[in-house]
Amino acid sequence: MSGTGKILVTGGAGFIGGHVCEALLARGASVRVLDNLDPFYDPSLKEANLAGLGNAGGDFEWIRGDIRDPEAVTRAVEGIDALIHLAALAGVRPSIERPAEYWDVNLVGTQRLLDTVKERPEVRILFGSSSSVYGGNEKVPFHEDDPVEAPVSPYAATKRAGELLARTFHHLHGHSITCLRFFTVYGPRQRPEMAIHKFTRAIASGEPVPMFGDGESSRDYTFVSDIVKGVLAALDRCEGFQLYNLGGSATTRLKDLIRMIGEALGIEPEIRRLPDQPGDVPRTFADVSRAESELGYTPEVPIAEGIRRFVDWYRQARAEGLVA
Ligand SMILES: NC(=O)c1ccc[n+]([C@@H]2O[C@H](COP(=O)([O-])OP(=O)(O)OC[C@H]3O[C@@H](n4cnc5c(N)ncnc54)[C@H](O)[C@@H]3O)[C@@H](O)[C@H]2O)c1
Repeated sequence: MSGTGKILVTGGAGFIGGHVCEALLARGASVRVLDNLDPFYDPSLKEANLAGLGNAGGDFEWIRGDIRDPEAVTRAVEGIDALIHLAALAGVRPSIERPAEYWDVNLVGTQRLLDTVKERPEVRILFGSSSSVYGGNEKVPFHEDDPVEAPVSPYAATKRAGELLARTFHHLHGHSITCLRFFTVYGPRQRPEMAIHKFTRAIASGEPVPMFGDGESSRDYTFVSDIVKGVLAALDRCEGFQLYNLGGSATTRLKDLIRMIGEALGIEPEIRRLPDQPGDVPRTFADVSRAESELGYTPEVPIAEGIRRFVDWYRQARAEGLVA
């Protein structure tokens, strides 16, 4: 099925959502964003994303509203062919401080949204899930059939519960729904509190880089253009209930990540070691074979190249006063 038509992207003012909207507009889709410009990080970054989308020259509109507000959601779903649900409170550590808020937005909000399209089974739905559902899984790489019953943060629990809500909704109402487990996404316009952005800011400002643990923890980092390709492929092939890992399919140790950012900036990083953080997992590593065979998904941007592209964007954004 074509990925064009009218598509609602919740959280479309955010990092991943902004890139997804850009790609949808580029291929001629009509795009509507529902986003409340949540103050989790500086909303001026989200306003800049929206301004870029408005200037992209396609059929774009956005509604400032909360996914928990039935009136805003009813307006947002009018006439849509597909729903890409990315709005959420993201971030593991703040979820430990404010679990009820995460539950409210990520679960109550998701259910409200689904309920408004209950009578319209033709609406295809994608749900932005997370590699965090695998918790401390020791078997690598992580496969979609691995156990996900032991999340280690409230954020991860809400993402796993969101997948279950989606599955139940599919069972009861028949919509085609695909859940996508994103593995640490980075690239231009990345959220400022995420590691690559935070480390780049620290090194560029001559400040020490806070390194939690001994630097041996590892992550599967995924460049945002690869995630976008996976999202569009999942939208085009959305049929029944599906669940896919979307990752970079390679791992990078924390200390190597810091070194690579330093190299891209041309500055030797100074490291400040801090204890391991509750809620953090020791490793993530995606088995993407299912997405590869069923969606034609292949991650293309290796970490060193992705970091160079991020640093290029960061320098420019900093010069324009968009980021610190
Ligand atoms: N970035 C990653 O590495 C990553 C990894 C796994 C999963 N995810 C998931 O992908 C999605 C997008 O993540 P992101 O990194 O772009 O985060 P982001 O914070 O940049 O984007 C989320 C957007 O949702 C909006 N939002 C939050 N609460 C809302 C509400 N109540 N109503 C309406 N809008 C609301 C925010 O304003 C924001 O623009 C999230 O669901 C996140 O959990 C991200």
